[in-house]
Amino acid sequence: MCSQEGEGYSLLKEYANGFMVSQVLFAACELGVFELLAEALEPLDSAAVSSHLGSSPQGTELLLNTCVSLKLLQADVRGGKAVYANTELASTYLVRGSPRSQRDMLLYAGRTAYVCWRHLAEAVRSEDERLQFMQGLQDVWRLEGATVLAAFDLSPFPLICDLGGGSGALAKACVSLYPGCRAIVFDIPGVVQIAKRHFSASEDERISFHEGDFFKDALPEADLYILARVLHDWTDAKCSHLLQRVYRACRTGGGILVIESLLDTDGRGPLTTLLYSLNMLVQTEGRERTPAEYRALLGPAGFRDVRCRRTGGTYDAVLARK
Ligand SMILES: C[S@@+](CC[C@H](N)C(=O)[O-])C[C@H]1O[C@@H](n2cnc3c(N)ncnc32)[C@H](O)[C@@H]1O
Repeated sequence: MCSQEGEGYSLLKEYANGFMVSQVLFAACELGVFELLAEALEPLDSAAVSSHLGSSPQGTELLLNTCVSLKLLQADVRGGKAVYANTELASTYLVRGSPRSQRDMLLYAGRTAYVCWRHLAEAVRSEDERLQFMQGLQDVWRLEGATVLAAFDLSPFPLICDLGGGSGALAKACVSLYPGCRAIVFDIPGVVQIAKRHFSASEDERISFHEGDFFKDALPEADLYILARVLHDWTDAKCSHLLQRVYRACRTGGGILVIESLLDTDGRGPLTTLLYSLNMLVQTEGRERTPAEYRALLGPAGFRDVRCRRTGGTYDAVLARK
């Protein structure tokens, strides 16, 4: 029956089994098969490989034979037993220390990228997921937005730009609390489009939306830039780069308001902030920071008069001036 199915069916099976081929490659790299065979003085049989690697005899033999079939290993028979050695492909690309080694890339692909690809369908369906994330973020500002925005008097700043402002929920809380002010919400195009379709901030005439990449594109000129739950997504180096860009765009006499959950000075509390920091570790390249760590980012970017205020709520405020 298979033979009647023709080329289409063969192609389909090849695609469907592609992940198994990748996993054989990743597993052999992870276990150190290619290193072991590179360092051995002669080809090794599967019992020797499994004993060196501490792996199961049966699983190891199967893996080695599959690697032979994939041309990653070659097998010869000596004394009635199969012995294995690296092929040229493996010696060139899979062994640590080879000048053309791709081993680290394969380990990354196997450990990290492969796990993310498990969620490809959800990612493609992501408008729903993004919308849900934005709704989740908005929920907090409905309850805590006014408190955090009242930590400092923002009335001297008539034009506010909320960078990475998402749905516009915080901008909306801002124009309600400070009736004299207008706000620009700056975010990536996909987020701005969802905000315009689904969130009420876009109907408020005091709020406008601006699409862009805050690491690359020109930032709108404003008196005050808000960065709420943005810096915690990024490494110190990327935060510094962003803060320098904000400093350059900011009007003289203007300021920056960083809204984040502040860690205690010794970095050992509050528990909620520590948990958020672990959440950042799992999901992003960032972390939560202490007041001193925010000062150390803001000062070198050019900002002065850095003041930190704990609100008693989930999020705190750091205001600095240009
Ligand atoms: C954790 S969310 C915080 C959203 C909002 N400030 C809040 O507190 O609810 C981070 C925001 O930064 C935006 N963002 C990430 N990278 C960006 C970039 N390169 N340029 C502009 N916005 C970006 C995301 O789209 C997202 O809306």
